[in-house]
Amino acid sequence: MNAPLLDLDRPETSDLQDFRRAVLSGLSRQPRAISAKYLYDARGSALFDDICELPEYYLTRTETSILRERARDIAGLAGKGVALVEFGSGSSVKSRLLLDAMPDLAVYAPIDISRQHLHEQSARLRRDYPGLPVEPVFGDYMALRSLPGIAKDAPRLGFFPGSTIGNLEPEEATAFLRNARALLGHDGALVVGADLRKDAKVLHDAYNDSAGVTAAFTLNLLARMNRELDGTFDIDGFTHDASYNAELGRIEIFFRSLREQSAMVGGRRFAFGEGERVHTEYSYKYDVHGIEALARSGGFKIGELWTDKDRLFAVAYLVADL
Ligand code: AVI
Repeated sequence: MNAPLLDLDRPETSDLQDFRRAVLSGLSRQPRAISAKYLYDARGSALFDDICELPEYYLTRTETSILRERARDIAGLAGKGVALVEFGSGSSVKSRLLLDAMPDLAVYAPIDISRQHLHEQSARLRRDYPGLPVEPVFGDYMALRSLPGIAKDAPRLGFFPGSTIGNLEPEEATAFLRNARALLGHDGALVVGADLRKDAKVLHDAYNDSAGVTAAFTLNLLARMNRELDGTFDIDGFTHDASYNAELGRIEIFFRSLREQSAMVGGRRFAFGEGERVHTEYSYKYDVHGIEALARSGGFKIGELWTDKDRLFAVAYLVADL
């Protein structure tokens, strides 16, 4: 039986303590930084869904079209009776493309740190795919050491779409892949979506949309600190700051103070100079060699790699490198 749904407006005490600890330590160190995972409260997740619909944000629609086109190939490569394990399932939108192409899955095991999402989406999937066993796994996929139930015993296909791998620093991405390799086993495979390096203006615009949704997404972190940690940030005193670092192949995102100011948060006061930035996200962009090297560092090799006609985005089918 499912646990009762949680009220997202009232985070659990342990989540609050974790957020408070991360904010206080992130604002106390130099350079200042708060992990991207805290961008995704209920409001942040809704804003991210809006980002995915933006004309400038080509990533979601491009990956979706590649997956739609290649879902049968993926199903053929994975074979019958596999467990589909999704790392960070969110609203499971893209996994449905695979579920539709793989009617004989042994189980779908979505892993997510949002209990709310897991319960809601699992209920929805059970309704929409009546014969499909759904085994939600609550937890941080970076730290998960074993899979439960059916997923443990069937051959496994991992799914990590959305260029989420790009939000990990290269050494974290390697650690993720190593862990996924251990969870998926020597006969396992992993489908990964990665954003490709391209014209700097296209990348810049994708993270500086004209409607200001990405800015609202970044600044929501300040609003979240105000809501949950009794913060006193004047949100209009900060701006979203995103630029492409071509040398390192990554978008770098911060919130930046527009003037000298101070704010209380979590019971402590922090001062911000004019122009001072707090880092919130990296979004790494890869080329095919980079994907190959990353896969190898995590114990995988590329089985297949598909891109769109403009080579904006890549979906790689990685197999264990024995
Ligand atoms: C979730 N992730 C892949 C997004 C990205 O493109 O790096 C997060 C994002 N941040 C601002 N816009 C989108």
